[in-house]
Amino acid sequence: MINSDYKKIKRVLITNDEIQRRISEVAAAITEEYRGKPLLLVGILSGVFVFMADLCRKIQTPSEVAFMYVKSYCGTKSTAMVDIVMDLNRDISNYHVVLVEDIVDTGRTLHEVDAILRSRNPLSLKVVTLLDKPSKRVNDFQPDISLFKIPDLFVIGYGLDFNEKYRELPYIAEYDESI
Ligand code: IMP
Ligand code: MG
Repeated sequence: MINSDYKKIKRVLITNDEIQRRISEVAAAITEEYRGKPLLLVGILSGVFVFMADLCRKIQTPSEVAFMYVKSYCGTKSTAMVDIVMDLNRDISNYHVVLVEDIVDTGRTLHEVDAILRSRNPLSLKVVTLLDKPSKRVNDFQPDISLFKIPDLFVIGYGLDFNEKYRELPYIAEYDESI
């Protein structure tokens, strides 16, 4: 049940059980595709930290994990700027890279990060996102794998925040934007 300290949680959209089931399916596909290959999972902080922790532990082939810190959001509105606050500190040219993101909204963040990483010549590059809000896209960016497509709602939990709060919730919930 939803704790009364969390008044701005409108409703649970995706339960932790549903999330774990989809992660198991996607992890099995990644395991098949990258078995025997050098695999680097690159997560985009901060929102991805919970998803990355579950995904990497369900992939049954060795991988390495690295993070970039990218900011593009302020409150519930997307800003046009994508700011690389912390870049990778390693060469990716000897790895098959899977870029892992929490949510694709306008597509600006991944469009930018995808281009930056491709310019560094990884052996291959694919994009996996936990959530996809296709109705908000401002470009033609398409993730290779999306675990859940969601409508145009602001969501929190399972790593996703509203002004740095609610990341600790185990499920994905709709944030109540009314005052
Ligand atoms: P994009 O550049 O518009 O695709 O935005 C992607 C980033 O915005 C994500 O990595 C999230 O950090 C953030 N974001 C987009 N939609 C939501 C949401 O509904 N809840 C929380 N964060 C979001
Ligand atoms: Mg993010």
